[in-house]
Amino acid sequence: MPVDLVLHNAKIYTTKGLATAHIAIDNGKIFKIAKTNLPKSSTKLNLKGNLVLPGLIDSHVHLRDQLLAYKEDFFSGTAAAAAGGVTSVMDMPNNNPITMDSKSLRERMSQAKNRIFVNVAFYSTFPKNTKKPPLVVKEGAIAFKLYLSKKIGDLNINDDESLSHAFEKAMEMNIPFAVHAEDRGMLEQGKEEMKRAGKDDIEAYIKVHSPNAEEKAISRVTRLARRSGAPIHFCHLSSLAGLQALSKARTTSLSITCEVTPHHLLLSSRDLKHHKTCALTDPPLRSRKDTETLWSALKLGSIDTIASDHAPHTIEEKKAESVWDAKPGIPGLETTLPLLLTQVNEKRLTIQELIRLTSEKPATIFHLRDRGHLEEGYRADLAVVDMKQEHKINPSQFFSKAKYSPFDGWKVKGKLLKTFVNGHLAYDDGEMVSKPGTGQIIRCVR
Ligand code: DOR
Ligand code: ZN
Ligand code: ZN
Repeated sequence: MPVDLVLHNAKIYTTKGLATAHIAIDNGKIFKIAKTNLPKSSTKLNLKGNLVLPGLIDSHVHLRDQLLAYKEDFFSGTAAAAAGGVTSVMDMPNNNPITMDSKSLRERMSQAKNRIFVNVAFYSTFPKNTKKPPLVVKEGAIAFKLYLSKKIGDLNINDDESLSHAFEKAMEMNIPFAVHAEDRGMLEQGKEEMKRAGKDDIEAYIKVHSPNAEEKAISRVTRLARRSGAPIHFCHLSSLAGLQALSKARTTSLSITCEVTPHHLLLSSRDLKHHKTCALTDPPLRSRKDTETLWSALKLGSIDTIASDHAPHTIEEKKAESVWDAKPGIPGLETTLPLLLTQVNEKRLTIQELIRLTSEKPATIFHLRDRGHLEEGYRADLAVVDMKQEHKINPSQFFSKAKYSPFDGWKVKGKLLKTFVNGHLAYDDGEMVSKPGTGQIIRCVR
């Protein structure tokens, strides 16, 4: 029997460096990677020496939909993913309705089912009712999300005991806890003080959403997780202070991982002041010193993943008179890969690091067992890129509904040519070519 597809003349990254090989795909999986003796295939495609990466696994995406579909929906969000070389996304729970138990998760999965171009796994917040956490995991939630900046879901985030208990349960079920680490008390108090003083500009926002608020939340979580040793994954680490708190906690035997975003790596508070609320995000863009620290940590191997934190809003929601009324969040699904390939071309990042940070590690941390590697037996989720092609980031061409970006007009080198999802060509040279529904829902299998 011939296999479904053979990709000829692919450049692949191996432990010995870059090599040319052919990739046979069958039944949605990588059947064989070899230089010779490939099986016969129904379809052949010549990749002309372009680089094939494992498709990106973006563990921090806000797909919205349901009552927030005006910002983004499963169709537009997963098209944006495919157009960014992202073959699996993990959807955050701060939706309307909030993903917070088996019922809300089931509803969200059924809405997504036939409308996704890439694979989607779902977070849930941690349900307060003790009977519910195992049920939401059984329904397929891949991880829990904890927002410490404001209450999302029904868990009492001000109560240490509730958090410790939630971590214990997560540990028992071996489900990771992703954390937005900004201390709510500090944010609320700071915002009130600023508002009373009539301050409502970017500077005020930066002061309130301080590195100290990040540090305090990280220290608190690591202290509370110590009792159970629950797997904690810190989202969008942004500051030197945050990194120091994390390093301190890592000296004990805690199971801690962390993520950075391309915007926290490549932009600073100067860009925030320039782009104003369009570049507003939580945590905000930081000082140059903070950015440099993130890069050093990344090079030392202390950063585990890079995720987009794709957080689309309408342009009207982004622009507001008062900074306190503007919605924080930056769309990132379509910029992550070209930005990072540019860093590879500039020798700031190696291909090996890129693959580890955007595919392998997210797969390991969130237990996506058969994804994230370009190896036989793994799912055929692939991104084909031309490392030499230069272009400019143009948000008006985004598939996302959020057609703006603080990277608007940036010259990048390294272009996505094709994206394969479960062995199917999903995106090809600027166009979506698969049907929605070719992406699969990834469920927790435990
Ligand atoms: O900038 C952000 N946007 N930070 C968050 O924590 C939420 C997110 C969103 O959902 O828009
Ligand atoms: Zn967040
Ligand atoms: Zn987020």
